[in-house]
Amino acid sequence: MENTGKPREGFSSGLAVFFASLGSAVGLGNIWKFPYLTGSNGGGAFLFVYFICILFVGIPVLLCEWYIGRRTRHNAIGAFESLKPGSLWKGVGVMGVLSAYLVMFFYTCVAGWVYFYCFKALTGAFASISAESVEGLFGEVIGVGTAGQSFFSKAVLSPIFWQFIVLCVVGFGISMGVRGGIERITKTLMPLLFVLIVICDIRALTLPGAGEGIRFLFHIDFSRITPSVALSALGLAFFKLSLAMGIMITYGSYFTEDVHLFKTAGKIAFSDTLVSMLAGLAIFPTVFSFGMEPSAGPGLLFMTIPLVFSKMPFGTVLLAAFFLLTSFAATTALLSLMEVPVAFWSEEFKMSRKKATFMNCLFIGLVGITATLSVDSSSLLGGIKLFGDGFFDFYDHLSSNIIMPLGGLLIAIFVGYFSKKEDVAYELSNHGTLENGFYVRFFSFVIRYVSPALLVIILLNTIGIISF
Ligand code: PHE
Repeated sequence: MENTGKPREGFSSGLAVFFASLGSAVGLGNIWKFPYLTGSNGGGAFLFVYFICILFVGIPVLLCEWYIGRRTRHNAIGAFESLKPGSLWKGVGVMGVLSAYLVMFFYTCVAGWVYFYCFKALTGAFASISAESVEGLFGEVIGVGTAGQSFFSKAVLSPIFWQFIVLCVVGFGISMGVRGGIERITKTLMPLLFVLIVICDIRALTLPGAGEGIRFLFHIDFSRITPSVALSALGLAFFKLSLAMGIMITYGSYFTEDVHLFKTAGKIAFSDTLVSMLAGLAIFPTVFSFGMEPSAGPGLLFMTIPLVFSKMPFGTVLLAAFFLLTSFAATTALLSLMEVPVAFWSEEFKMSRKKATFMNCLFIGLVGITATLSVDSSSLLGGIKLFGDGFFDFYDHLSSNIIMPLGGLLIAIFVGYFSKKEDVAYELSNHGTLENGFYVRFFSFVIRYVSPALLVIILLNTIGIISF
């Protein structure tokens, strides 16, 4: 890959690297997936298994991606080309970019719902709302019963409108550049998100009966740890750290030379888990305090939470805080996703960053509409199936079940078996300036033997060859 001669933009400091990477890791997963999975699968015992997965698969693959990015200082596809010119390894980069697109098609849709709820919460629309109206509102958002309606009807256009708002915000941030956009936004939003979550925690933990929610989240029950639970912890570790989507390669290419990659990876994994636990502590004590059943996914975020929060004192303010922090999480995750194709298009085709951003937003918006209009089977495009799934689920399943574990496996194999050991050690020790030989040796062992084995198990399980 030839050098354009223009100095490449990058993050300004280790702190910027930390916030940007954390901004990518923290997303909807922290709120609707992680706390519930923990609570319903053995609490502390699940966390223990999750940390093992993080240690043996998450962090090693994260380090591989950062190694590839920082060593080459190229986008996800260009990086492989630069390390192995003319080889098929470029395909792994292509898979990453493809999977970033697939995730954006549906993630922008869900982020749109979050923005919409945020707007509703800020305007006080949830004050003493009933269970039926929350359900009705969510039905509206996902387009229940819009099949057969005109594309231009309000019910069809409204979720698309919010998806476009999300794209405008993310596109604006990305067009401002790596430092002026991503760095500035994540440095502001991440600390704010933390403050908002702590405020929600204080309220939740002072509710009568909060103890039951804490118990749900943190009890330790090793009897719940079955092979399939361990497998979901592994998948979660992968999704949480935004791996195999070209993101960490692209971000790694903007890292300063002095960033201690091992320490940063540990800090990101720890802080991301902390945010999930704090989110769980805001959600479950409240849910239990009002005698509701804990759940996961969209139902939790868009129905249970508005309902229980609106019932408690200062609930409307807290609900606004909660949806605001969720929209920050979704936005910073999307910034990292959008950077993947924008870096690729602007570097490989010498397109200006603004033009690359505009074109990508337009493309994602146009294809993303198919996801937005196919969430429910009675939505406008809900009847169209690709391999048995509607568009929304198809994008989700193809990226998370197939491309991500396969991409992760190939990245581990690339670094473990097809990269020079000395090169990897040189980069991970910041050109020999760090005394971290033990970590490097541990990493080399894990990436050759442990991570690939575990990733093969995930893949075989998803394709249905083995099942637990
Ligand atoms: N890590 C994010 C989360 O937990 C999800 C994500 C996946 C973000 C892929 C970007 C890319 O929600």
